[in-house]
Amino acid sequence: MSADLPPALRAALDRLAGRFGGRDLAAASQRLSADYRAGRGSRLPAPVDLAAYAIARMPATYAACAAALGEAAARVDLAPRTLLDVGCGPGTATWAAAETFPNLVKATLLDAHAGMTALGRDLAAEGPALLVEADWQAGRLEAVAPASADLVVASYALNELKSGAVADAARALYRAASGILVLIEPGTPAGFAVIAAARNALIAGGARIAAPCPGGAACPVVAPDWCHFSARLPRLRAHKAAKSADVPFEDERYAYLVAARPHLQIEAAPARILRPPHADKTGTTFTLCTEGGLSRRVVASRDRDAHRLTRRLGWGDAFPSESPEPP
Ligand SMILES: C[S@@+](CC[C@H](N)C(=O)[O-])C[C@H]1O[C@@H](n2cnc3c(N)ncnc32)[C@H](O)[C@@H]1O
Repeated sequence: MSADLPPALRAALDRLAGRFGGRDLAAASQRLSADYRAGRGSRLPAPVDLAAYAIARMPATYAACAAALGEAAARVDLAPRTLLDVGCGPGTATWAAAETFPNLVKATLLDAHAGMTALGRDLAAEGPALLVEADWQAGRLEAVAPASADLVVASYALNELKSGAVADAARALYRAASGILVLIEPGTPAGFAVIAAARNALIAGGARIAAPCPGGAACPVVAPDWCHFSARLPRLRAHKAAKSADVPFEDERYAYLVAARPHLQIEAAPARILRPPHADKTGTTFTLCTEGGLSRRVVASRDRDAHRLTRRLGWGDAFPSESPEPP
């Protein structure tokens, strides 16, 4: 799935940027980055702060949502018709879900911050029908009703809860999902800790893990390492100005989890590539997460068949089971 913003969202963000002074947006964006780096969550008191969030962060969180939802679509045999996006902010995950799941006909977006849902509605005005007709609600994600939607998504939201509250929230979101639950968090040690806590709670509650893990065994990734992935996204003009940046792209690091109800058929990856592969003249070394734990596979350049099968694979991709064992 493409990490590029849909044209209607790109246009809406450009219009939003036009309503504020470039300097004010850049200053708000810097406050936001400082909060993000310090793990303080999004406070966003003023309209310019909300706009800066949407302009500076939405392209990146969209890219992460698109990647995680793309994995959900590839791994779980379900074409969801209803969506619940909790901690929805400006609706980022719903924009990505509209692209990934064309059968969606109804979206409910819930956020504790009324300013966020107002901004989201505004950005959605010229979007796809799913967003134009969406039901935007004010409320807390911990209180969602059971079986609310086929697909439930929480992107960059659970890290704003107290760490002791994550497991209960994950259980509530799983109960709300009659099909798939997708969680996406920053690709930091703290973001991964949220995913790990949610994963443990979900497995104990009977959920099946469809991605990124190859199964439901205990997670073999331990501190100081953390499981995370990377999505590359192009920077928009307004985005570059808000971030005072020249580079035309950025890499968004994210952690995620796709959990499915037991009645659904899933096809988890046989193994997952956990870091950028390392290539030299003799071959390519892959660091993998497998059902049996972490492992390294070396695909020798001279092994033409295996090399052909794996040469385009990168960080975050599934690694095929038919690849050879290390020499
Ligand atoms: C960093 S923003 C992420 C927004 C959006 N999901 C995205 O990926 O761009 C986190 C959002 O979660 C919302 N939030 C935090 N705690 C919440 C809670 N307990 N219930 C509902 N929303 C919550 C915040 O108001 C904020 O809009």
